[in-house]
Parts: sequence; C-alpha cells; structure tokens
Amino acid sequence: MYRVGIIGCGEIGQHHAKAYAAMPDVQLVAVSDVVAEAATALAKQYEGVTAYQGHQEMLEKEALDVVSVCTWPQVRAMLVSDVCRHGGVRLIYAEKPMAMNLKEADAMVEAARQAGILLVVGHQRRYGARWRQAKEMLHEGAIGQLIRIEAACEGWDAFQWGTHWVDIMRFFNDDQPVDWVLAQVDRRWDRIRFGHRMETECIAQIGFHNGVRAVLETGDHIVGAGFYNRLIGTDGMIEVDAAKKIPLRAFTRTGYIVPELRDAEPNFPSEVGRAISSALRTVEAGSLEHPLNGASARATTEVVMAIYESARIGRLVELPLQQNDSPLGLMLGRVGVPLVVAP
Ligand SMILES: NC(=O)c1ccc[n+]([C@@H]2O[C@H](COP(=O)([O-])OP(=O)(O)OC[C@H]3O[C@@H](n4cnc5c(N)ncnc54)[C@H](O)[C@@H]3O)[C@@H](O)[C@H]2O)c1
Repeated sequence: MYRVGIIGCGEIGQHHAKAYAAMPDVQLVAVSDVVAEAATALAKQYEGVTAYQGHQEMLEKEALDVVSVCTWPQVRAMLVSDVCRHGGVRLIYAEKPMAMNLKEADAMVEAARQAGILLVVGHQRRYGARWRQAKEMLHEGAIGQLIRIEAACEGWDAFQWGTHWVDIMRFFNDDQPVDWVLAQVDRRWDRIRFGHRMETECIAQIGFHNGVRAVLETGDHIVGAGFYNRLIGTDGMIEVDAAKKIPLRAFTRTGYIVPELRDAEPNFPSEVGRAISSALRTVEAGSLEHPLNGASARATTEVVMAIYESARIGRLVELPLQQNDSPLGLMLGRVGVPLVVAP
C-alpha cells in the first residue's frame, strides 16, 4: 500500500484526493496547505487523513511513498526540491505548468534524478481515451502521414492551458524533438490567473525535427475555437475536442468516421488516476522512464518558453532554448511576475 500525501488542497488537490481514493493500492494519509482551513477541509472528506499546514512537517511525520504537488506554479520547484531533499518518497506527481521558467524546470529534473525519485508532471491528457484513440487511428494510417497539428484554447494562454496542448502535440508526434518556434503574443488587458500574469492572445508555429508543423492558438479573439486538437495528414484529418462539443471524428479517403470509443471515457479525476497508476507501475519496475516524466515535461516547458521568447525578441527561436529566465516575465518588465505565492 503506497502512503500518499498532497501539498496544496485547492481545486486540483481535491481532484487528486478523489483519484487516489479510487485506487486500490494507495492510501491517502496526509494533506498540507499553507491555508490550514483548506487542509482540514480536504482531510475531513476522507478517513484517516491528517491535515498539516507545513509540508515539511508532513514529510517528516508521514513516511510518504507518493507526494502530489498541487499548488500554483510559482512554488512548484521549491516544493519538489524539498520533497526530493527529504528523501524516502518514490513518486512525485507535480501539477502543471511544470515551472515558471527553464531554470526551475532543470532544477526539478536534477533534484529528482539525484534523489532517484520518479517526477511526473500532470499532463494527464495523454491518458484520456479520446487522445489515445486518436493516436491509435493515426498509427493505423487513418489519415496517412502526419503533416500538421493544430490546437486551440479559447480564453486561455500558452503557459497554463498551452502546456497541455504542446504536450499533446509531442504525444501525437511520438515525442519528436522541436527544432524551432515562431510566435506572437498580445496582452490587451492585465489577465492574471493562478497568481501570475498571462497573455490575452497568442499564435505560435512549432517546427518538429521530423518536419511536422504545429500551430497553437490561444486567447479571447479565437471566438468559437474552443479546445480542439486537429491532426492533418496526407490522407485526411482527425479531430479531438477537449470540451466534448464534437465527438472524436475523422475525415478520411473513405469518408467521415465517428468511431465508437474503445475505452471507457474517464472523467477528469480518473484521467489523473490513470496517469498516477501508470507512474506507480513505472516505479515498481524500478524505472524512471515515463511519458510524463520530468525530462518530457521539461521538453514541453522549453517549447512554451520558446513561444514567449520568440514573441519577446520578434524572431524565430531555434531550440535548444538559450533563455533560462521567464521570457514573459522579462517582457512584462518583471513587475509582479510571479505576483502572489500563496494566500
Ligand atoms: N492537470 C490539470 O488539468 C489541471 C487542472 C486544474 C488546475 N491545474 C493546475 O493545478 C495548480 C493548482 O490549481 P488549483 O486550481 O488547484 O489552485 P487553487 O488556488 O484552487 O489551489 C492551490 C492551493 O495551493 C495552496 N498553496 C499555495 N502555496 C502553497 C504552499 N507553499 N504549500 C502548500 N500549499 C500551498 C493554496 O493555499 C491553495 O489552497 C495550477 O498550477 C493549475 O494550473 C491542473
């Protein structure tokens, strides 16, 4: 039985608790939050869960095997390092976005490597039934050879939601490396979510090493675009809609297909649960290789940061990215980025 603790008891922390509660081989034993009431409220919902205000005290007292880090990204690197330094833990499931900049992402990967801990970042869409089936269809040749991937997140940004879409683009393209990024961002008003500033509009072109190109659109101006992914191949197109307004569908040489989902469609916590279960199987195999591991999330973070760097310098950016700071923070003159660490 894996002993689990959660740091950060807000919305996503509650989803993690729900996911753990549904898993047979884990036991949620502790939760912590700088806001004591948040920890107590979550602990009360499950039997035998102790609430802490400080994550250090929780780590010292609970002999945890698994830790979920469910805070805003400004404190993610610090908390992951603390868990790694403490030792004993075998799996850290850190929420997305991985980090505020590449320097922090590198520090997280290195801390986990030194501690021999599997660090996984919450790009759980890779475990979503529709995304997995879309990729299977692609591999089965439904649309020929992949040429282009499109993704949109209406009303959102490249950092918070975009990290999911960059990760899913990498998933569809078999984790091929990215060679270059060309992007523009706009900030018409002071959008702040999760305590940090973000753009109001963005368009980014992403060039993969194997020649596949991807386009990410974010923001307020893409009215009606929603949250789709579109895979365009030499022989057709597959669409996945995260908002479920349209079913998984494909336009192929033989016609329009709406395939039956082969796998049960999990709701949000169980997608997280699948990602965690899969990470636990990796831990049991004595491996640190996982599709959502720190190195993979670092690659996704690099592309997201390259989007902002391209907008900042007004040019195409070639990877590896040489900018370890937050280009968005640099663009905004640093003031208020990050704005708030914790309530
Ligand atoms: N994977 C997904 O699809 C998904 C979905 C929603 C949110 N998220 C991510 O999860 C993160 C948290 O989002 P949320 O909606 O739960 O935010 P939230 O504001 O509801 O909760 C964050 C909690 O963290 C606590 N906290 C802050 N600093 C802390 C610290 N140092 N130690 C312990 N607790 C601390 C806060 O008090 C708060 O209770 C964000 O980065 C967000 O992007 C991911």
